[in-house]
Amino acid sequence: MCHNSLNIYYIIIFLVLVNLIKTNEQVGVNVSSEPILRINDLKVSFQSGKKFLPAVDGISFELKEGEILGIVGESGSGKSVTSLATMGLIPSPPGKIEKGEIVFEGNDLTNISEKEWRKIRGNQISMIFQEPMTSLNPLFSIGNQLMEAIRLHTSLTKKQAQMRCIELLKLVGIPRAEGILKDHPHQLSGGMRQRVMIAMAMACNPKVLIADEPTTALDVTIQAQILALMKDLNKKTNTSIILITHDLGVVAEICERVIVMYAGQIVEQGDVRKILKDPQHPYTKGLLKSVPDLRGKKERLYSIPGAVPTPGTIDKGCRFAARCAEAFGQCKVETPTLISQEKDGHEVRCFLHTLKEGSDQHVRVTS
Ligand SMILES: Nc1ncnc2c1ncn2[C@@H]1O[C@H](COP(=O)(O)OP(=O)(O)OP(=O)(O)O)[C@@H](O)[C@H]1O
Ligand code: SF4
Ligand SMILES: [Mg+2]
Repeated sequence: MCHNSLNIYYIIIFLVLVNLIKTNEQVGVNVSSEPILRINDLKVSFQSGKKFLPAVDGISFELKEGEILGIVGESGSGKSVTSLATMGLIPSPPGKIEKGEIVFEGNDLTNISEKEWRKIRGNQISMIFQEPMTSLNPLFSIGNQLMEAIRLHTSLTKKQAQMRCIELLKLVGIPRAEGILKDHPHQLSGGMRQRVMIAMAMACNPKVLIADEPTTALDVTIQAQILALMKDLNKKTNTSIILITHDLGVVAEICERVIVMYAGQIVEQGDVRKILKDPQHPYTKGLLKSVPDLRGKKERLYSIPGAVPTPGTIDKGCRFAARCAEAFGQCKVETPTLISQEKDGHEVRCFLHTLKEGSDQHVRVTS
């Protein structure tokens, strides 16, 4: 082979290698930027008489790998229905998923069989509930229940499962783990019981953990410890977490992004720090005013006058209009949509923040 053709030969090899490296890099970026869970236009209704009334009405959001996402809203806004749908646990009847997708690792779960759900639930997507006593069986010991959770989803021997039990209890910050295996739930404090629940939910290293009001029943100090524990687990295991609460203060502690729900819809979503600093939706502003004073002042807490409307009672206008101090004519007759405010994913459903067509400025639409 002459000198020139050898050079061309090396150049071609070099270009092929560069191309291969580039392709690999692109694949890496795509994989990591793909959300682990994507809820797309989800609508969940419950039957009341002959009608189906929407408790969750067309919500869409993404949970990225390793992130902690907060869902906040008052009682009845559809937080639990969203999480139950994500676990395949909507009671049917009276409930049904009317439309939308729940895409976990690229696969839509809305139409899978109960048998397939059992492979995912508790294994890949796990949940912790508000009140551990409703999920822990008072008749069985902690060790017994934890072992069952482990052996249900793995092929570990009894001895291996027992070791995993102790490992899990230590992971959730229970120091004398061996000692509590024989204890029954009522022998533990509320905070300890919640730690056991978290250990059970983490038994199979789930990719997604949904925590529905995990600290509401606990006092403030224990609440802070459980939140710190969840943050720690997220860091150690890279588990993505959806934290559901009615308290924006809790969201501020550990979440990166937040979704604000009202009457079955998302009214604002985006970066936590940004929304806490400068909330755009009147409902978010009201929730923020209701956060207890962190310095512990014993002043009476603000609460937004009125209550969340029951599903199906508002068919026209903004669902928050009856309680909104900033409502104006348009709000009672037209329905606001969720509109992107900036490129960072901040979205708001309010006519006060409608983005004027063809402009990148926010305009205050008043009449
Ligand atoms: N099993 C059910 N049967 C009928 N309606 C239901 C059922 N579960 C929920 N709903 C309806 O869905 C609405 C939203 O309920 P959801 O439990 O999701 O609220 P939430 O935001 O979790 O409130 P909370 O903060 O009190 O837990 C309720 O107002 C109720 O009307
Ligand atoms: S659209 Fe109107 S009623 Fe609804 S939140 Fe905005 S200002 Fe208030
Ligand atoms: Mg709930």
